[in-house]
Amino acid sequence: MFVKVTRQSLLLPDKFYKNQRQKKKKEQEAKQNDPNIKDYLKDRSIMKYYNQRYFLFTKYDEGISIDYESWYSVTPEHVAKYLAKRLENNKVILDAFSGVGGNTIQFAKKCSKVIANDLDANKIELAKSNAEIYEVRENIDFRSSDFLELDVSDQEVDVVFLAPPWGGVSYCTQDYSIFESVTPDIKKIMDKAMGINPNNVVLLLGRNTRVDELVLLFSDYFNRSKMNPTINTLEIEKIFINGKLKMIAVYYGKDCKVDRGQEIAYCYNLFGNTAQTKHILKGLFKEKGIRPFLVWYARQEKDKDFTVEDANNYKEYLAELFPLVDNQE
Ligand SMILES: C[S@@+](CC[C@H](N)C(=O)[O-])C[C@H]1O[C@@H](n2cnc3c(N)ncnc32)[C@H](O)[C@@H]1O
Repeated sequence: MFVKVTRQSLLLPDKFYKNQRQKKKKEQEAKQNDPNIKDYLKDRSIMKYYNQRYFLFTKYDEGISIDYESWYSVTPEHVAKYLAKRLENNKVILDAFSGVGGNTIQFAKKCSKVIANDLDANKIELAKSNAEIYEVRENIDFRSSDFLELDVSDQEVDVVFLAPPWGGVSYCTQDYSIFESVTPDIKKIMDKAMGINPNNVVLLLGRNTRVDELVLLFSDYFNRSKMNPTINTLEIEKIFINGKLKMIAVYYGKDCKVDRGQEIAYCYNLFGNTAQTKHILKGLFKEKGIRPFLVWYARQEKDKDFTVEDANNYKEYLAELFPLVDNQE
């Protein structure tokens, strides 16, 4: 299994800071009357999240509803927007742990349908109201069930998005084990997700998630998968905002972005230039075309500045070396 760790650096627009300054004056009185926090004014950990409320929902002042647990578990809007853009080619998204709708709302802006599910029926009611504020209510099919029991057999789900609870309010500062802290059991979550769509699963977890544990968790599914069992790729994406690591997204299957050059390099390192390597390369050519391979090969063998456009010029030369590449495009 080839594991690629990628980095996504997002920057907040200046507008965000300006809005914050303008709102500061009215803040004091608003705080006392805000139903989302009036019971937690002395809870410093929650007030920390309240101070970042426009980061969680830019339309916070239009009547967004957040319950206690969601203050620290909602996906910030900037991150949710990025994820929705990245998954926009999917028609139907299942947001299996939707909470008060941080991800669901942004998915609903990009995809034709979101199935939003949460065990907590109250959170689903809050999510409905939040979706109305963002004018995306009609794209969302709300459910309230334990994900492990959820029946979506009436739907063709293109991607299963999983943002399960991974710890309490202190999770950010502590190392944690996905096998111990995530609820329900991470393996049960994954088994259920794979039963819904084994070809496209995205997992969103805390920034202290350990890469080795993710490899362990997913290697099991790669071994069972009908996809090429030797070199499937898992993308583990570290999402940074203004230079700070915020979350980790894991892409398994269709929406995993693979640099085929890197995958091929991995395959050479593992097996050398053997019949097995050639067999795997043949599979890659069939699946993706030869261009990424040509670029990679030319870079290894010739000069580093070789471009995609140059690749075609090397076709004949490479076809001699690798008879497998001759008629694939
Ligand atoms: C990290 S939060 C998700 C936040 C959400 N992505 C958002 O941006 O608002 C995890 C959610 O999982 C829900 N949950 C916990 N156990 C569940 C289960 N067995 N099935 C479905 N939802 C569950 C919790 O109620 C909580 O809202």
